[in-house]
Amino acid sequence: MQTVHLSQTNVAVSCLGLGTLRFGTTNSYEESVQLLDSYIEAGGRLIDTANCYNQWAENGKGGESEVVLGRWLRERGNRNELFIASKVGFGYDDFPDGLAPKTIIAACEESLRRLNTDHIDLFYAHKDDPNTSLEETLSAFTQLIKAGKIRFAGASNYLAWRLADADAIAANKGLAEFTCVEQRFTYLRPRSGAYFYPQRLLDENLATYCDTRGKTMLPYTPLLRGAYVKADLPIAASYQGLDTDARLAALHEVTEELGATPNQVVLAWMMQRKPPLIPIFSAGTPEHLRENLGALDLTLSETQMTKLTMAGHCPNEEPN
Ligand SMILES: NC(=O)c1ccc[n+]([C@@H]2O[C@H](COP(=O)([O-])OP(=O)(O)OC[C@H]3O[C@@H](n4cnc5c(N)ncnc54)[C@H](OP(=O)(O)O)[C@@H]3O)[C@@H](O)[C@H]2O)c1
Repeated sequence: MQTVHLSQTNVAVSCLGLGTLRFGTTNSYEESVQLLDSYIEAGGRLIDTANCYNQWAENGKGGESEVVLGRWLRERGNRNELFIASKVGFGYDDFPDGLAPKTIIAACEESLRRLNTDHIDLFYAHKDDPNTSLEETLSAFTQLIKAGKIRFAGASNYLAWRLADADAIAANKGLAEFTCVEQRFTYLRPRSGAYFYPQRLLDENLATYCDTRGKTMLPYTPLLRGAYVKADLPIAASYQGLDTDARLAALHEVTEELGATPNQVVLAWMMQRKPPLIPIFSAGTPEHLRENLGALDLTLSETQMTKLTMAGHCPNEEPN
């Protein structure tokens, strides 16, 4: 699998990351292992989890995904070949919400224990915490980096101006900055006024900020949970906007031209952006995983990239 430099670090990570939100809850240990092994066989090395996955599942209370990963890492003995991202910020079970320093430090210790590892490659603030100063939060991440417990800090679900404030504080105070950003993003554009809180979008403000500062963006929920193809899962109302028909028409045209599937084209469109996005996708079955990994073999022409990007824009709009 090709690699992409993570922001301005000298670390290269896989161009397509595997999300593990449902591992250990919706997906059994055995199913999760099959999906992980297939991703690794395809050359993938970037795995995304969080301390609270998956408290939102009916049978989950948080921690299950990290436990699955930790057991699999021990069984495979492959920890050092991988780049593992986890997160802190959502309260779950009896663990507190927010990004107070003691919460960040305690979460890291718990994640290290569950993951059976001595370091996490990328530790995200999972959502912004308006009740803790950015300086305190960044100080805690800096402390973890200095102790060798994490390699990089990342931001997830941040507004652009908060990220800019965090970067200014990091520079002024000599603290670690948020190296990269994980936000909600797909090919379809949300309807005007759609609100996903506590999730935050990779919108134009954030994308232009990150491009200018050389911060890599990692979109989550790139496949809209299967809605591009699943007959029983319609496109959500929050993605039914004025340009939806035009975007879907462009997606289907390019899909046909390439003999591909809509999911593959969505992922390839993100990976072939300049600079590239690193989609964090998931799949619940080996067939879906294989299909999605097929995006790695697609080459979109410049005309196809432009057609997809510009679909539904008014003529005087700029591409984003
Ligand atoms: N930072 C954050 O706040 C945040 C938020 C959400 C997610 N994430 C991360 O991002 C990862 C991906 O998120 P996501 O699972 O919401 O995104 P997604 O990749 O858009 O959706 C995955 C879902 O789509 C379906 N799907 C995948 N491939 C398919 C295919 N080829 N055909 C039909 N259906 C298909 C799967 O259903 P099947 O089970 O039928 O395969 C699966 O449940 C998560 O695992 C997590 O690591 C981060």
